[in-house]
Amino acid sequence: MENNQITQAVRERYAKAVTTGEAMCCPSGYDFDELRTFIPDEVLQVSYGCGTPVGLTTVQPGETVLDIGSGGGIDCFEASRRVGPTGRVIGIDMTDEMLALARAQAPTVAKNLGYPQPNVEFRKGYADAMPVEDESVDLIISNCVINLAPDKLAVFREMYRVLRPGGRFTVSDIVADQPVPKYLIHDPVKWGDCLSGSLPIGDYWQGLRTAGFRGVHQVNAVPWRVIDGIHFFSITVAGYKCSSDSSPMEDAAHLSRYATLVGPFSQVVAEDGHQFVRGVPTAIDSRTAVLFQRECYRRHFLLTEDPCALSPDDPQWSAILPEPGPCLWKGDFAVFTGPFFEAMDDDDHVFRSGEPVEICSKTRNVLSHEGYRDGFLIFNRAGDRASVTEASCNSNGQCC
Ligand SMILES: C[S@@+](CC[C@H](N)C(=O)[O-])C[C@H]1O[C@@H](n2cnc3c(N)ncnc32)[C@H](O)[C@@H]1O
Repeated sequence: MENNQITQAVRERYAKAVTTGEAMCCPSGYDFDELRTFIPDEVLQVSYGCGTPVGLTTVQPGETVLDIGSGGGIDCFEASRRVGPTGRVIGIDMTDEMLALARAQAPTVAKNLGYPQPNVEFRKGYADAMPVEDESVDLIISNCVINLAPDKLAVFREMYRVLRPGGRFTVSDIVADQPVPKYLIHDPVKWGDCLSGSLPIGDYWQGLRTAGFRGVHQVNAVPWRVIDGIHFFSITVAGYKCSSDSSPMEDAAHLSRYATLVGPFSQVVAEDGHQFVRGVPTAIDSRTAVLFQRECYRRHFLLTEDPCALSPDDPQWSAILPEPGPCLWKGDFAVFTGPFFEAMDDDDHVFRSGEPVEICSKTRNVLSHEGYRDGFLIFNRAGDRASVTEASCNSNGQCC
C-alpha cells in the first residue's frame, strides 16, 4: 500500500467508528466516572486511545497543550480542565467526522467547567504536517495515533518544531519488539487496528532522538497482543526539547557542575555520548545540568556544585544484586527503555536502548526491582513452555 492508501483506509475506519462507537484497541485506564462529570457520553463512547495521558498530570494552569490525533476530544477536554480558563488546548485530526463530534461538544464541556467560552480548538490537519505555529506549545500529548501515520519520522520532526524550547511530550502508542513484516504492513485492517504501523521500540526511541528530543524514556508499558510471534505493547513515552532559557529549573541547574551516578546501574552512556560510572563525579555542561533536573534523571544522579565521589558504603549508593542460586533460561527478554543510550547492571550485562536482550530468571528478578522497573520492557518469547535447565550466564562459567 502507498502512504496515501494507508491514510485513506485509516480515515475511513475512524469516520465509520464515530457512528458505530465500535470497541477498538486496548484498555486505556481512564476513570470514566470522573470524566463523565464534565465530558458528554458521545465523546467517551469514541475513546480509542491505548493509554492514559499521564503527561497531563504535569500540566500547569495557563499552558498550551497540543493533542495529535484528538479523535472525539477526550484528552483535549481533560487538558482543558487542567490548563484552566487561561490555558489553551489545540486538537489536530484528519477525519472530518471526528472533528465535527469534538467541535460540537466543546461548548458543553466549557459550560460544565464554568468557563465563559471553550479554551479548546479543533483543527483539521495531518500529524506529519501540523497546522501549528513554530515553538508555540508547552506540552504535546497523543493517544494511539502515531502508529497510524505512514511517516513517523516526519511526525517526530513536526513535534520538535512546534514545541517551545524547554517543552515536553508524553505520548501513548503501540510499539513492537521487532520489525513488523510486510505481509502485516500491507494489511489495511491490522493497520487500522493500530498494529501494522507499529515501529520496533528501538526505532521509536531513535526517531525521537534524531528529531532532537532528549530524555526519551518509558513512563508506562502494557503488553497488548502477540501476532505470529511479534509482541505488541501499549507504551507511554516522554521526552524533552532542551532549552537554555532562564526559569526556576534552569536557575537551580546552574549550580550543578558535576553529576555522580548513584545507581542502580554501574555505568551509563548518556544520549550525548558521555559516560558516567557509579560513584565517580563527572563534569557536566549547563545544558546537561538543566536536563538532569528532570525526574527521569534525578533518581539516578547526585548533582553538585563541587565534585562529590561516592563509595559503596555511602547510603546514597544504590546497587541491586541477584539472589544466590542457579540461572534458569525461560525465554525472557528485556528491552532497555530508560533515558540513556546504554546502561550496565552489576553483572556486567550491557543493555542498549531499544535492543532486546535475553535474560535469565535471576536477571529478570533484578530488573523487576523498583530501581529498574520503569526502565525496562520485559516479555517472554518462548512459544511453548521452555524446558528449563540450569546454566551459567557469564563467560567465566559462573552464574550472575
Ligand atoms: C485510535 S484513534 C485515537 C483518538 C483519540 N486520541 C483518543 O484517544 O480517543 C486515532 C485518531 O487519529 C486520527 N489520525 C490517524 N492518523 C492521523 C494522521 N496521520 N494525522 C492526523 N490524524 C490522524 C484518526 O482520525 C483518529 O481520530
